[in-house]
Amino acid sequence: MLKFSISCLSYLSGEIDMKVLVSDSLSNEGLEILKEHFDIDVCTGLCEDELVEKIKGYDALVIRSGTQVTQRIIEAADNLKIIGRAGVGVDNVDVDAATKKGIIVANAPEGNMISAAEHTIAMMMSMSRNIPQANASLKAREWKRNKFMGVEVKGKTLGVIGLGRIGSEVAKRAAGLEMNLMGYDPFISEKRAMELGVKLATVNEIAKEADYITVHTPLIKETRNILDDEQFALMKKGVRVLNCARGGIINEEALARALESGKVGGAAIDVFVEEPPFSSPLLNFDNVIVTPHLGASTQEAQVNVAIDIAKEVVSVLTGGSAKNA
Ligand code: NAD
Ligand code: MLT
Repeated sequence: MLKFSISCLSYLSGEIDMKVLVSDSLSNEGLEILKEHFDIDVCTGLCEDELVEKIKGYDALVIRSGTQVTQRIIEAADNLKIIGRAGVGVDNVDVDAATKKGIIVANAPEGNMISAAEHTIAMMMSMSRNIPQANASLKAREWKRNKFMGVEVKGKTLGVIGLGRIGSEVAKRAAGLEMNLMGYDPFISEKRAMELGVKLATVNEIAKEADYITVHTPLIKETRNILDDEQFALMKKGVRVLNCARGGIINEEALARALESGKVGGAAIDVFVEEPPFSSPLLNFDNVIVTPHLGASTQEAQVNVAIDIAKEVVSVLTGGSAKNA
């Protein structure tokens, strides 16, 4: 596990006698909203033991994906009313433990969806044209035009598993690239799929027919390993797969086996079961392109989610409700 150095800053300008701990970096636009009301400590890089000590007395905890809010931290919290996640996934929070203690877990699900969708499309295009590999090669003073022959996406079939906020935005953008669209999501209607130009299918049908498969579900029991050895066996030779949602939705070991056998022709991965993924077998393949969980890393998304979550915290601590709890 990578250990980051601890950095702490305090702002004591709050009007209301309540304290907020921000334990991952948060855009200034969100901090400004919090500072108008409460005393704020921004303290990043804390390990679990340090957070267990630190959390006492705080009314709110604001996080991104860097902080794991474990049962121990929640049990140690003696005054906590809300955990605010600046982003979508609350899989880094023990939501059951929080709920048992009456602590609200709120997220900011809308602010980064465009960035995550754009990152997925950027990864699909980069993978199709070998851009990361060609960039590294030329910077190593090589001129290998034949080595980096790519493919067009026009006319290819993209399978989208999970057609919520981000999956839908990916589908819209892929339609603009003149791709054919298939999708699986047990909770969307035929009407919504038709509006998106997506042909609904099962996961296995997508596995058989698609040239590209991208996953955009939450990581839950039903979606863990949704693409596994069984699905890779059904896929076309040379299929390209993407995961810009959560590590574990595609089984990483099964993907490595499918890359090894040549069944999978390329993969584009932003998220990993363990982050940082320094011991992941996926880092060893030339035809796998990777980014360090950058889906939401744009200026726009970080401002959006910081503002959204700050407003949620203000609302809850001043007697209102949370929109996204
Ligand atoms: P969302 O809740 O809007 O959409 C998720 C969709 O998955 C829903 O439509 C839901 O019906 C569907 N779904 C649920 N169970 C399913 C199943 N068993 N099979 C298929 N579909 C199923 O969420 P979102 O905002 O679109 O986020 C999607 C994913 O992207 C989440 O895992 C989120 O954490 C992740 N994310 C990653 C980044 C990043 O930085 N890489 C950024 C934002 C979000
Ligand atoms: C999210 O769930 O919002 C993304 O993974 C981005 C982040 O980690 O903030």
